Amino acid sequence: MKMGPFAVKKLTTQIAVAVMGASMAFGVIAAGTLKPSEEDITKYLRPAAVPQPADNMMTPERIELGKFLFFDPRLSGSNFISCATCHNPSMGWSDGQPTAIGHGMGQLARSSPTILNTAYQSLMMWDGRFRSLEEQALGPIEDGGEMAQPMHELIPEIKAIPKYVQMFEAAYPGEGVSKEGIGKAIASFERSIVATDSGFDRWLKGVDTAMSDPAKRGFEIFKGKANCVACHSGFNFSDNGFHNIGLPDSKDDGRYRVKKVAVLKGAFKTPTLRDVALTAPYMHNGQYSTLADVVAHYNRGGDKNPGHLSPNMKPLNLSKAEQQDLVEFLKALTGDPLALTFPQLPVN
Ligand code: HEC
Ligand code: HEC
Repeated sequence: MKMGPFAVKKLTTQIAVAVMGASMAFGVIAAGTLKPSEEDITKYLRPAAVPQPADNMMTPERIELGKFLFFDPRLSGSNFISCATCHNPSMGWSDGQPTAIGHGMGQLARSSPTILNTAYQSLMMWDGRFRSLEEQALGPIEDGGEMAQPMHELIPEIKAIPKYVQMFEAAYPGEGVSKEGIGKAIASFERSIVATDSGFDRWLKGVDTAMSDPAKRGFEIFKGKANCVACHSGFNFSDNGFHNIGLPDSKDDGRYRVKKVAVLKGAFKTPTLRDVALTAPYMHNGQYSTLADVVAHYNRGGDKNPGHLSPNMKPLNLSKAEQQDLVEFLKALTGDPLALTFPQLPVN
């Protein structure tokens, strides 16, 4: 192969990077010595109990019914789309699409977020327009673009399936098959979908080898120089807030649609970073396909957009190696696969 000037330049850069890497290895922070602090452990370890509302405490019957409904495409007008079509457990409870594809193969404006750890979230959706999982679950069923199934048609359809009638009675005795019951059961199932231990959690619990050295250095950068914790804080790596991080999107005002406060123009919900390696593409509009692209976005302090950039968005001046360490840390937040049995849906 003949080497053009470009290839030569690339080779020189590679050598430069390799030399930098070698000198870094003798640098100040030897990652092997990085141990979680007491503060890290209290901040990031999973809380003992899953938060649940007093009027819909989780029971095995409720979770089971919710699971059936979540996977049942008969909840859609076409009998073809279930919640799991867009929140697919094999794809980190998302769909791998930049933005979701709904009823009639129509493309929606926003990407499908994971439902993992939504139990820990106070407001739902990229703009936070729903206040609970119970309320949220009914939204997509009736939404013309998503599942397009009017409730007055769905309830008789479910009532015609004897197994479902029994399951509703076991989950919500005396309440029959109702709209509220559907929302509550699905919410109960979703609350059971909680992140399992990742390498990061095992490291917090004292297994030093559970995270790679680059990932350990990445955690330091995440908390320190890059200040990702300003928004991605706590066990779920979310402050449950809304921020404009400088994504150009002239069609979507985000949180401003719900609350007409100027600073909320272009602000979107801080998503969890748990299992984030499984849920590309990223952002409300799916504009980034890799975590490296996301980190590069933050490194340049975001891009110009029509709204009010968060004061926590500034160029970070991270080296290439530091950016890679951050990506390794994000990958270390991937939990073990959930032990989940798939429901055998009742036939009508
Ligand atoms: C056609 C794809 C599609 C289907 C079907 C669908 N969703 Fe979603 N889901 C989305 C999209 C897109 C969003 C974000 C929409 C927004 O922010 O406006 C979302 C948001 C959510 C959220 C909020 C998550 C968060 O982090 O804020 C939950 C919970 C959820 N969906 C559960 C469900 C349930 C339960 C069903 C079935 C009853 C369902 N979805 C059906 C695409 C879908
Ligand atoms: C000012 C608050 C803020 C800071 C600081 C911040 N983030 Fe975010 N992050 C967000 C918000 C809000 C979104 C969603 C934005 C959107 O889709 O419009 C997001 C999205 C992401 C996503 C995509 C997740 C997904 O499911 O699509 C990743 C990954 C991410 N951030 C990592 C980081 C890292 C790494 C840092 C530090 C370099 C960081 N964030 C700093 C608020 C912040």
